[in-house]
Amino acid sequence: MEKKAELHYEGKVFEIPVVTGTEQENALDISKLREQSGLITLDRGFKNTGSCKSAITFLNGEEGILRYRGYSIEELAEKSSFLEVSFLLIYGELPTQEELAKYTNDIDIHTLVHEDVKSILDGYPSKAHPMGVLSSLVSALTAFYPKSIDPNRSQEQINGTIIRFLAKLPTLAAWSFKNRVRQPIVYPQNGLSYTENFLHMMFSLPTNNDKVNPVVSNALDKLLILHADHEQNCSASTVRIVGSSHASLYASVSAGIAALWGPLHGGANQAVIEMLEEIKADGGDVSKYIAKAKDKSDSFRLMGFGHRVYKNFDPRATIIKKAADDVLKELGVSDPVLDIAMELEKVALNDEYFKTRGLYPNVDFYSGIIYRALGIPTDMFTVMFAIGRLPGWIAQWKEMRESGEPIGRPRQVYTGATERAYINMENR
Ligand code: ACO
Repeated sequence: MEKKAELHYEGKVFEIPVVTGTEQENALDISKLREQSGLITLDRGFKNTGSCKSAITFLNGEEGILRYRGYSIEELAEKSSFLEVSFLLIYGELPTQEELAKYTNDIDIHTLVHEDVKSILDGYPSKAHPMGVLSSLVSALTAFYPKSIDPNRSQEQINGTIIRFLAKLPTLAAWSFKNRVRQPIVYPQNGLSYTENFLHMMFSLPTNNDKVNPVVSNALDKLLILHADHEQNCSASTVRIVGSSHASLYASVSAGIAALWGPLHGGANQAVIEMLEEIKADGGDVSKYIAKAKDKSDSFRLMGFGHRVYKNFDPRATIIKKAADDVLKELGVSDPVLDIAMELEKVALNDEYFKTRGLYPNVDFYSGIIYRALGIPTDMFTVMFAIGRLPGWIAQWKEMRESGEPIGRPRQVYTGATERAYINMENR
């Protein structure tokens, strides 16, 4: 039976249909509410608003559940590779052996970017943050592939754009880092795995061509899986809303990268290490910073703690914490900043303020730690997140286009001046 809710307002009753998802989540469908009653809904930060129906990722923040296309994140992180997971997210099913071989090969042969990208890179100052560079280079891909601007092309053509994107993003990311450190760029090497190839472009020099440490590339592959999608978060919503105007995939994801950059979203992984370094430079007194985070007159927040939807634990953080422990042990890393992280985690987890507000370490708390141990420079952390999130953004964009979503255009409650007469300059 169709479920309905009733709204009683000013002596009238309005029926509101209830939409139920496959995990029995219920939502009020208020799309006709304004027509019927003159009312809109107000929900700053979309804290309780579903913006779409989606079959990609299921997340239950209360129980700490995260599944991509029905498969648990725990199982995918243990058994799958990042490319397999990206195929799953984008096309809806795990690939067969043949499909995966073809997909991997298609990506492998598209990793090179146009030589003219190098002259664009030359134009950036060396201080340029790699996230800004990455966002603009992704947008610049439309210049090299002008046909990709049209999102209404055939399935096969859109697929070509998707493959090219997955193949080229690590190259653009590594080159944005090389620009930052003013080193010569390193070309992609076919035959390496997705993460090996990225690490090769990041850390090999044309003069040494060092082999990538498998402990490092395996840990990175797992991290990318954990970051691959997270339903309607700030950057995914950005990608969908930009794409809803029929902007291209590259343009939509370029905007998503900008959304991810902020410290309240993906930029938190960089902010975590900067905060830990600040604590260390200030004498390492963790309790002082816990007190600052609790003080409402101080804008300081513990970076890497808290999450909009996870209020008990972040399942990705549990997996990543274990991976971080393994990597630190395997690589024999000892770092005073990491010791501060461990102490901070212990103190915060036992503090009433954090416990009552459901503030636990999130994925970015541990990913910052692990990236640092892997030798990834701090301002590249969010770029790593972007590489991991690309399949999710693509899947969200593709789903949004294929389901024919209308242009995203929220309403507002206006609180400004009501109509008034213009005041001539001499009277102001
Ligand atoms: N440190 C101290 N206090 C915090 C923190 C924190 N990190 N996070 C939330 N709080 C407090 C708030 O002050 C508020 O307290 P109050 O109820 O006494 O006013 C309460 O907890 C609820 O916080 P909100 O800001 O309302 O929660 P919201 O869901 O809007 O924010 C967010 C979630 C943005 C993640 C927040 O917890 C935060 O800023 N965390 C630090 C940044 C961070 O780690 N971001 C990464 C998120 S994961 C990701 O994007 C991949």
